[in-house]
Amino acid sequence: MPDGAGLFVSFEGIDGSGKSTQAHLLADTLRAEGHDVVLTREPGGSPGAEEIRALVLQGDPDRWSAETEILLFTAARRDHMERTILPALAAGKIVICDRFADSTRMYQGISRGDLRTLVDDLHALMIGREPDLTILIDMDPEAGLSRAKGRDGIEERFEDFGLELQVKMRAGFLDLAAAAPDRFRVIDGSGARDVVADAVRAAIATHLP
Ligand code: TYD
Repeated sequence: MPDGAGLFVSFEGIDGSGKSTQAHLLADTLRAEGHDVVLTREPGGSPGAEEIRALVLQGDPDRWSAETEILLFTAARRDHMERTILPALAAGKIVICDRFADSTRMYQGISRGDLRTLVDDLHALMIGREPDLTILIDMDPEAGLSRAKGRDGIEERFEDFGLELQVKMRAGFLDLAAAAPDRFRVIDGSGARDVVADAVRAAIATHLP
């Protein structure tokens, strides 16, 4: 582990990729192996950020301008970093985060025009840190969409994006991975749950003591 000071792992992928399930399974596996694990998620992961989560995921799709939405996601992330992630890392824990800044790069960066520069500038200004390792669960967009649509819930501001955008995001996530090969591990999410989980566990092996 870098610096002997915890390990920060994020999970990324399009809606319906199965990354939340895999984040949970990895947390369970590592705990069973005796590691001290904090499983968290974005948007959310701290009391203040969970309040922001409700603001950004519920309600009318036009509720926020694209720019306001980026500010809200970044504000939530900043609080999550301050209150949850950094203290856990400082205590030497493994932090597993279901989505992090790469989701903002994709969702806010490309879904409503090209706002990547704004997302990156705000990240540099207010967050300034990447996970040590990012597990990208890669998934066919059509399959992902049918999985995601099968769920009920009120957090659906981003779940009506449709196939075209899912295709763009999958490609965008793969581009991010190609640009930062040291940080990313790309895992094929189409297999059976336990097969994917084994691949995830193997992918993080080199980062564990
Ligand atoms: P999540 O709870 O991971 O939903 P799911 O399990 O369905 O993938 O994330 C909720 C939604 O929030 C998801 O559609 C992606 C969106 N999101 C952003 O648009 N920007 C962000 O920065 C983050 C973290 C999430």
